[in-house]
Amino acid sequence: SLENLSEFCDIENGRISGKIFSDKAIYEQELEKIFARCWLFVAHESQIPKTGDYITTTMGEDEVIVVRQKDGGIKVFLNACPHRGNKVCFAESGSTRGFICNYHGWSFNTAGNLVGQHESGIYEASDFDKSKWGLKEVAQVDSWKGLVFATFDPEAPTLKEYLGPMTWYLDALFDNQEGGTEFAGGCIRSTYECNWKIAAENFVGDILHAGWTHDSAARAMLGGAVAKVSDFEESYSVNWNGHGYEFALDTVGNVAVLGESALNKYVHTIKPSVAERLGEFRSNMVASVSSCTIFPNFSFLAGQNTIRVWQPRGPNKIELFSWVLVNKSAPDDIKEKWRKGAMMTFSPTGVFEMDDGENWEYCTKTSKGKVTGAQDLYIGLGMNTLERQTDLPGNVYKGQLNEANARAYYQHWYDHLNAKSWSEIPDRNVGKAEVE
Ligand code: FES
Ligand code: FE
Repeated sequence: SLENLSEFCDIENGRISGKIFSDKAIYEQELEKIFARCWLFVAHESQIPKTGDYITTTMGEDEVIVVRQKDGGIKVFLNACPHRGNKVCFAESGSTRGFICNYHGWSFNTAGNLVGQHESGIYEASDFDKSKWGLKEVAQVDSWKGLVFATFDPEAPTLKEYLGPMTWYLDALFDNQEGGTEFAGGCIRSTYECNWKIAAENFVGDILHAGWTHDSAARAMLGGAVAKVSDFEESYSVNWNGHGYEFALDTVGNVAVLGESALNKYVHTIKPSVAERLGEFRSNMVASVSSCTIFPNFSFLAGQNTIRVWQPRGPNKIELFSWVLVNKSAPDDIKEKWRKGAMMTFSPTGVFEMDDGENWEYCTKTSKGKVTGAQDLYIGLGMNTLERQTDLPGNVYKGQLNEANARAYYQHWYDHLNAKSWSEIPDRNVGKAEVE
């Protein structure tokens, strides 16, 4: 049970146990203390541009509807009828004036109000108060640079506080051009028999696996080996409250833009305007070898532009929702090339995704063994040798080949499970909170 959690997650000593990937009691606590508490990515603004546009997704295992309102705002509701709990919207996306439940015909407008029922006179004749039985709205919704997040917890800090100084780095992908970003194509859904954390942790800062796990696929797909990360002149690992971003300042897009020369050219073409907008430093982050996870389960790769949510479906299963991100201002053929490239690399049939999926499934599977699940797993790389970089926002360390972000991620995970509310979560940040 959770009383012994410190036995399975001891970050100070650089170790965790596989038990945290398969224990059912831990998983139940995660749904309550992480997925019902934290800000979760639910949509990109470009998916629902007009009044009545909606998408359905999940926050943890809770099904929700994300709808554009008449006033331009966005509301998020439980996708469950307040009569007997039937699901009210079965489509993944669409445009509508409202939602009608299949069971007894309760109908709701896009603002979530109950507006009618089958045999509505029966309700009117009783003392039923229609105004009290609308779709249940989540506590807070907010967006940042096109990314819409929601939280079930009214006590959660603002989205801005939640993301903290990570926004400075996120701009390199989500705000490097006038007009911002959009999704190219729809949502790609697939399932893996793995724990959600092993995937999220991979994106928080595990470039270490890339040169080994993806070596043969990279030779086949990109026409050469994955670049040796230890050869990069300048690279960083940044974290904050469990979020993590690792990146190299490479020569812009030589490695990460899918071996496609048109994409490489595009990245070089926009570089001067990115430098003007965000400065030289961040202009070198565009399409660099990098990966990021916003705690708990929203991740992306800046070069491949795959954006994803590792949706938890029990301790040993995830449903992966992924999309391809492009600059709105990019030419159509570039958007299409980016979409295709991401499909060939990071999709259910993509070569890199297959490499990763197999590893993650076995990391999860072995942890089900009673003895194996309790064995110590090493997570201490760089623990005593990391060099801090204090002039950049966040907790920043030089280099990508370390486990600093993974440790910060699991530490924050542990802190949430131990806390009864937001106020009990310790502040473990050591770096700069401000973003100029
Ligand atoms: Fe929806 Fe009865 S469950 S109307
Ligand atoms: Fe990988």
